[in-house]
Amino acid sequence: MTEIFLNYYQYFLRGTQTTVIVSLITVLLGTVLGCLIALLRLSRFRLCSGFAKLYITVIRGTPLLVQLYIVYYQLHFIPWPEGSILGVELARVMPCILALSMNSTAYVAEVIRSGIQAVDFGQTEAALSCGMTRTQAMVNIILPQAVKNILPALGNEFVTMIKETSIIQYLGVGDLMYNNGIVVTATYNPLPCYYISAIIYLTLNIVLGKGLDLFERRMKCSDR
Ligand code: ARG
Repeated sequence: MTEIFLNYYQYFLRGTQTTVIVSLITVLLGTVLGCLIALLRLSRFRLCSGFAKLYITVIRGTPLLVQLYIVYYQLHFIPWPEGSILGVELARVMPCILALSMNSTAYVAEVIRSGIQAVDFGQTEAALSCGMTRTQAMVNIILPQAVKNILPALGNEFVTMIKETSIIQYLGVGDLMYNNGIVVTATYNPLPCYYISAIIYLTLNIVLGKGLDLFERRMKCSDR
């Protein structure tokens, strides 16, 4: 295993780089769009909340792999930018980022909605009885408390996306699993390659998990 890693480490490193970048962009986009869908979901207008509910149901009810292929083939007419960044073709990676972000959006929207709804309704009532408008109550009273419920779950989403990005190999994007495949073909020795990839994914997620723990502990300080 060590020998394979030492001989082919560039492949694993390049793949890890793509995996990290794609998941980072995906989670960022997913968070922004997820906030939007969560707001629509909580809206008093039936049309808005209905649309958000439908979106979340469809995305959560179909496999990510299927969504990836649908986005890729459905949007084939779009002239994605030519060229490549860090050895990854933009025309391939952009539909992947779009599909992954659309998927993440639905999960993040639910995280945000449940985070907001976990704040006791008495808080809203108290804010309203102090003369605040609904928007003021949401922005000044509910959201600051909801953020503490939401952030740890958003961290989980990042961990999930680091693992889920592995499916973009099927569209030929050079992520960690794609490069793993190259090394498997070159060495005819799959098992050590998969162990190396597993260790890399695990390391990424342990480091991320530690960072999130630290962050969570910091946020809890203000509760005491
Ligand atoms: N493997 C799952 C599926 O095929 C993907 C779940 C994505 N989860 C997430 N939190 N974004 O549906």
